[in-house]
Amino acid sequence: MPQSVLFVCLGNICRSPLAEGVFRALVQETAQADRFFIDSAGTGAWHVGNPPDPRSVETAARHGVDISMQRARKVHPGDFTRFDTIVAMDGSNLSTLQARAGGGVAELRLLLTNPQRDVPDPYYGGPDGFETVYRLVHTGCRELLETLSR
Ligand code: 4NP
Repeated sequence: MPQSVLFVCLGNICRSPLAEGVFRALVQETAQADRFFIDSAGTGAWHVGNPPDPRSVETAARHGVDISMQRARKVHPGDFTRFDTIVAMDGSNLSTLQARAGGGVAELRLLLTNPQRDVPDPYYGGPDGFETVYRLVHTGCRELLETLSR
C-alpha cells in the first residue's frame, strides 16, 4: 500500500499546490512514485475548482515543476481517515485541521518542524513571497520525504 500524504493550506491555490508539486517531483527523482499517493487541499472553499494562483504556477515552472493541472478542493471529513499523513503549511491550518479531525487516524503535522515554523501566506504580498515559499517548501518536502522513507 502506498503511503498517502495530503498537503493543506488555507486556499489550496498558493502554498499547498507548490508542496504537492515539489513533493511529487522529489518522489519521482528518487524513483519512489509507486510508494506515495499525494494530494493537496484547502481548509477554505473560496477557490474550489480553480487552478493554482498564476504566481505559484510561474514559480514552480521556474524550478522545473508543472503544477498547472492541479485544481483546488476543500479538506473533506473523509481525508482524516483516508490519508496517513496530513501536512499543514502553518500553525493556523494545523489548528483548523485538529478541530475538524474527529476520530480520524491521519497524523497531523506541520511541514516545517525543525525549527518549528510557518510557511508564510504569500497571497496578499509581492512575487518575492512566492520564491520564499518555494524555498521553504522545498526544504520541508526534502525533510518530509526523508522522514517518511525511513
Ligand atoms: P494559500 O493562500 O492558503 O497558500 O492557498 C491563500 C489563497 C487565497 C486566500 C488566502 C490564502 N484567500 O483569502 O482567498
